[in-house]
Parts: sequence; C-alpha cells; structure tokens
Amino acid sequence: MDNFDDIVKNIKTCTKCHLAKTRTNAVPGEGDKQTEIIFIGEAPGRNEDIQAKPFVGQAGKILDNLLREIGLDRKKVYITNIVKCRPPENRDPQPEEINTCIPHLFKQIAAIKPKVICTLGRFAFAEIMERKVFISSEHGRPFKTEHGNRIGEGINVFPLYHPAATLHQPNLMSALKEDFAKLQKFLTSPPPEEKEVPKVKENPLASVYNKKQTKDQIEKKDKQLGLF
Ligand code: URA
Repeated sequence: MDNFDDIVKNIKTCTKCHLAKTRTNAVPGEGDKQTEIIFIGEAPGRNEDIQAKPFVGQAGKILDNLLREIGLDRKKVYITNIVKCRPPENRDPQPEEINTCIPHLFKQIAAIKPKVICTLGRFAFAEIMERKVFISSEHGRPFKTEHGNRIGEGINVFPLYHPAATLHQPNLMSALKEDFAKLQKFLTSPPPEEKEVPKVKENPLASVYNKKQTKDQIEKKDKQLGLF
C-alpha cells in the first residue's frame, strides 16, 4: 500500500488530465490521516484552488459549522474530493476527469481505512456506491458498499447533501442539520453486538471526538451543549 505522504505528493504533481493546465493548485485533502471518518465532496472551487485546501470557501464555512454542531473538529476528520483539481468556472467534473482522478481517492481511502465515508452531494455518493443514486430520498442514513465495489465491500457510507446546495436552496439547511445529528448518533451508537455488554466500553469512534470518551460522556456533553 502507498505511503500517505507519497499519495499526497502524487496528487500535488499530477498531470494526468487537462485540469492540471488550468489549476492553480491541486487539492489533495486535509485533516487527520489516522481518522475513522472521511468527508468527500465533488471538486475544489476557486478558494480551494488558490489555497490548496478543501472546503475553505462558503461551502467550507457551512461544513465547519455543521461539524462543530455535532462536536467534530475538521482537524480530526479527513476532508477531500472526488476530483482533486478545480474544473474551470466550477463546472461539473466530466466522466473522464473523474475516472482519471479517482484512483488517488481510492489510495487515500485504502491508506486511511475509515469506518465511515460521508459523501457530500450526489456526485460523491454515486461514485462511491457505483450506482445511480437518489440523494433526495437516500440522504441521512447509512449504506454499505456492495461486493465488488472498488473500495471494498461492507464499508459504511453516509450520504449527506452538499453544503453548497443550501446556498441555492436554503430550505435544505434543516435537512442537512438533521442529517448531521443522525450522523452523530450513528457514529456514537455502539455496533449491535456490543449492546449486550453491561460495562461501559470506550466508544469505537470516540477518537474523532476525544480519546477515552464514552458514549454516555459524549451524550452528556452534547446535552449540555443543547445538541439534543
Ligand atoms: N465544493 C466541493 O465539493 N469541494 C470543495 O473542496 C469545495 C467546494
């Protein structure tokens, strides 16, 4: 398996498609490579292209707030995109650009081995699931990748609306907030086989919150913060 620094270096210097000619910077991704959660968007926009960081523009501010509201710090998750270079004028990435670029993402996923992949928007959800998706009816609940999927079978995928969608459709914000609350529940509820265990166990995903926190501690803190 590739070393994470090599993967990042290969993305930064990639010239495999014509987006390399128009980009200012490739945007590999940002965050904790030891994390259990990856957020995957579509492609860098203007601010991301300039700063070489994902989700730093308007959509990024929305994402940061949504993460903060469920007690997640963007430094403790990994945030990236399906396509690592900005398509001119923020147009949709084209199939050949996606197909050329997506092996970088697969290498990032293989290196990080996340427990949950959160897709932001229809594009990322469809690419990860490798099927036609229906974001308006499928958002906000977990799916598993199927046998034969390029990233492996049985990986948890949690589809969310793209934060930028709320800029054009403000009424989607309440759905997005609800979905983040559902994501928090999903991340903090123990897998079914652990439900029988009477003693308090460390939450399997506590590391993205704060090492050694139990589910009860997380929920207590969140109650204090008025999240529930
Ligand atoms: N939209 C995306 O999909 N990705 C970014 O990094 C920024 C905006």
